[in-house]
Amino acid sequence: MTCAIVYSSRTGNTKRLAEAIEASLQPQGCLYVGPPDEAALAADRLYIGFWTDKGTCDADVADFLSQVSGKEVFLFGTAGFGGEPAYFESILNRVAQCLGQGNTLIGTFMCQGRMPMAVRERYEKMLSAPASHRMPDPRKMLENFDRALPHPDAEDLARLKAAVASGLNPA
Ligand SMILES: Cc1cc2nc3c(=O)[nH]c(=O)nc-3n(C[C@H](O)[C@H](O)[C@H](O)COP(=O)(O)O)c2cc1C
Repeated sequence: MTCAIVYSSRTGNTKRLAEAIEASLQPQGCLYVGPPDEAALAADRLYIGFWTDKGTCDADVADFLSQVSGKEVFLFGTAGFGGEPAYFESILNRVAQCLGQGNTLIGTFMCQGRMPMAVRERYEKMLSAPASHRMPDPRKMLENFDRALPHPDAEDLARLKAAVASGLNPA
């Protein structure tokens, strides 16, 4: 059984998840670790990581997923929002629909990922706008921003490793 880890990460959050997966798969080793690339399609099992863009995976990963067929697939990703497990589920459902034919989904994992400070500054500016223009509520956005700051954290990485282990040894 050969494997590859394919991921897209603009600010490093999803990269941290990919590194944790790589560490937990050793000493088996992987054929390929890196950004979406056809070279990864030589593996039997693909760990595919994305950052959330407008409620689904980023475009590079969406394009790659459409080329994947007949593989075991583990999907992982990070999102700026994350209060509700249902939110992650809805993203993962959309992402899984991007996959090509005949794949077996062996596991999924998502957690929050910190966002750039420029995003917080934008929310802060919204606080001074007239209340009727405050959509969405900037206080809630600031709360979410601050909640995301420590993520992915050690607990996220431990949960990810557990999810990867159960994909390797399904019950
Ligand atoms: C252009 C853009 C769009 C985003 N859209 C969403 C979104 O729809 N939902 C969400 O929860 N987070 C969204 N985010 C936040 C990122 O998904 C989040 O910060 C992620 O952890 C970034 O991962 P990375 O560090 O691997 O690039 C967006 C970020 C950017 C830059």
